[in-house]
Amino acid sequence: MTEQSLAKRLSDLQPHIIPNNDSTDYMLKYCMEKDLDAMAVVNVSILKRQVELWKRAMPSVWPHYAIKCNPHPVIVRTLHELGCGFDAASPNEVEKALSVGSTISSIIYANPQKQAVNIKKVYELGVDTFTFDSEMELIKMIENTPEGKIGQFVLRILPVNTGAHQNFGSKFGASKKESERLLKLAQRLAQTHKNFTIAGFSFHVGTGCPFGEAYVKAIQECTRLCSLAQELGFAPKLIDIGGGFITQEALLHLKDHESIPSFNFMDIGAAIEKQLIEARKVFGEDMKAISEPGRFFASNCVKLVTRIYGRRIMFDDNEPDVIEQMPKVDEEESLTESDMMIRQNKIEHVKYYVGEGMYGYFNNIMFDHVLPNMRFFRNEFPLDEQDCEKHISYIFGPTCDSMDCILEGKQIPLLEIGDFIVVECFGAYTWAGATEFNGIAVTQMVTVVEPEDA
Ligand SMILES: Cc1ncc(COP(=O)(O)O)c(C=O)c1O
Repeated sequence: MTEQSLAKRLSDLQPHIIPNNDSTDYMLKYCMEKDLDAMAVVNVSILKRQVELWKRAMPSVWPHYAIKCNPHPVIVRTLHELGCGFDAASPNEVEKALSVGSTISSIIYANPQKQAVNIKKVYELGVDTFTFDSEMELIKMIENTPEGKIGQFVLRILPVNTGAHQNFGSKFGASKKESERLLKLAQRLAQTHKNFTIAGFSFHVGTGCPFGEAYVKAIQECTRLCSLAQELGFAPKLIDIGGGFITQEALLHLKDHESIPSFNFMDIGAAIEKQLIEARKVFGEDMKAISEPGRFFASNCVKLVTRIYGRRIMFDDNEPDVIEQMPKVDEEESLTESDMMIRQNKIEHVKYYVGEGMYGYFNNIMFDHVLPNMRFFRNEFPLDEQDCEKHISYIFGPTCDSMDCILEGKQIPLLEIGDFIVVECFGAYTWAGATEFNGIAVTQMVTVVEPEDA
């Protein structure tokens, strides 16, 4: 697809063209002009570049975007326009994919544990490809496959020692032995139930995995299981390499990012492609390889800006509050924070209150275990952190919950009311989990496009 045709296809979304290609400047001015204390943009040009990078790195792997990562309609729609399929985890997500024009055969229902009612609903919507990782699930799927349908069941295996930032193994995935047992059980069930087949294998190496080797080993295990499945009379044709791919930029939000070795996505892709060549020797040349990237697509294209609307300077009450050489202030006179600072009263810490918090985009602090990488701006200009007076600080979101804290006890520059916090690459597991707790509306995303894509 050409750049022009993407812009044309998205024209009904009326994306704003970013002046001078500087989205931070655009956002800060937008907030000042409209007096907003938070705003976000989704940059469809960045999303397009991520898809292009994927296609260059892994031309034989068809990405099925994990909608859960950021189900914003602009992201889902743009990825459909760019040729992606979808990984859905609920009937609602299947409907979301269909609503942007996705075909049924471009959707995998990749939730290994499903309510029976949802299996039925997903079949009604036309999708027939499901993952599973246990005996009960296999039986449940067989029992809920409607007359005339052949369920395409994909066994989700458990990759081990992947080195991922967060492992999913505690929740999903069949071990080696369990996978073998499930395949044998499937063979027995297939003798009496003609409404399903073992269509292939899937895995998820865990979240934030910069190691190609993790994917390679899991593909090897899928290939071994494919041979067994073939011996048992099945003909699996699908490998689903899951998600977990992270971008260099989003890595900065991980708590221990300094300890993560540098990586190159093209190298990871090359290692996977090489292993898929081996897999095809067993699965057959008509093997289909798909993936379920979430954060790899959704992270980089979203930027958040939030603004400080409240500040409390917490002076040390135990500190002798007058320094001899400073001008005396009448004890009766009430002191302002500035007076106290001029008198050099010791600041214990500073508390800030901003427009976006844990119940908004920053819910990923809890659910995605991140430590958001923040930059500070005054008007349109970045604060030179080397040059600033710094204090231990706490930044709170806008709700009344004291847990709503997005930065805890870190040294940062002394900020003023009206200053901005800019968080780049903040699209993964942010908007998706944002709520209206305390009646505070979810910060909406403005769609933007870079001038060369306009
Ligand atoms: C089944 C499945 N596939 C894909 C993903 C996407 O993972 P990521 O965003 O790390 O690529 C998830 C994330 O929870 C998942 O559960």
